[in-house]
Amino acid sequence: MSALFGLGQTLLLALDPERAHDLALKTLELGVYPRPSGPDDTRLRQTVFGLDFPNPIGMAPGFDKNARAPRQLLDMGFGFVEVGTLTPRAQPGNPSPRVFRSHADRAIVNRLGFNNEGQEAALKRLRAKPDGIVGVNLGVNRDSKDRIADYVDGITRMAPVASYFTVNISSPNTPGLRDLQAPRKLGELLDKVQDARKGLGDTPPLLIKLAPDLADADLPEVVAVIKDSGADGIVISNTTLARDGVNDETLIRETGGLSGRPLFDRATRMLARVYQITEGKLPLIGVGGIDSGETALAKIEAGASLIQLYTGLVFEGPGLIGRIKRTLVAAMDDEKSNTLAPLIGRRADEWAEKQLPELVV
Ligand code: FNR
Repeated sequence: MSALFGLGQTLLLALDPERAHDLALKTLELGVYPRPSGPDDTRLRQTVFGLDFPNPIGMAPGFDKNARAPRQLLDMGFGFVEVGTLTPRAQPGNPSPRVFRSHADRAIVNRLGFNNEGQEAALKRLRAKPDGIVGVNLGVNRDSKDRIADYVDGITRMAPVASYFTVNISSPNTPGLRDLQAPRKLGELLDKVQDARKGLGDTPPLLIKLAPDLADADLPEVVAVIKDSGADGIVISNTTLARDGVNDETLIRETGGLSGRPLFDRATRMLARVYQITEGKLPLIGVGGIDSGETALAKIEAGASLIQLYTGLVFEGPGLIGRIKRTLVAAMDDEKSNTLAPLIGRRADEWAEKQLPELVV
């Protein structure tokens, strides 16, 4: 069976990236995917921002933007799935080609620009809510006249079906979006979003997804604004504009956000810094460059309570999920622990001090 999926993986990697992606989703919709051989080790369970996660490994947003296959992704072994980014109205995104892959670099550059079928279409699909945690990642329409209103709209519309929300202000592919990370703007955005949530009563937890390209000096203020807003957690990080660690000429040349292995150090260092700033008191989701059990464990040691991945799945295939689980269980064995708790943040100080090349964009 795994040989078959290995062959499928090789075929997918030979196709144009967007066609391969659509085929992978169709295959999932048809029910052709590997299942884990047994239930998750109970030591992988955690309650984070009030939700019970069977394991800490999530499907990162961007893979299933339109909520076509969340149930299948959960069945495949993910502990949670984040759908989106969804914008209030459907939009086509940027012209193709807009996704570039390098197998040698284990990296992807994308400038999709929030192509999606809009929130109503996803809402309909999610009405038959799968058992399990499905987060909804919210964005804004490119031609929106009022970006804050787009996020408020998303909260209001999607609240009945979302296990949690992620406010995505960190995509590099919607011009000006990342300006919402500026503390004053961010404060205004989060006030309005929180008002909308309060108006709805008991709404799903709220997370904020940040870019890895924020300057170290700006981080404490950004994090303070998020904490003061009463948000439930932070996702670190989205794709980077940096190209260090990339050898492939196409990936260096093409504009867009870089994901995968070359993003790992930058995203993990920022995660550790945010863990230090929040003194480990605000749950963090670590994402960016996880492609093995070891890199998943490193994210947790840098301060992540939960992790997500996308690019690693493209190059490694679904077997990666089981490998990560086995590594985490072995790390708990070594620690003689029945929970992940003692692993979380135990190497944050080391990661926070890691030297990286200057960000050149
Ligand atoms: C993404 N990512 C992303 N993130 C997000 O918040 N909304 C989105 O719509 C998308 N879309 C998207 C498309 C493609 C093709 C890729 C490769 C990535 C970013 C993703 O969720 C994640 O933050 C980064 O890719 C870093 O993780 P990996 O891929 O290195 O594991």
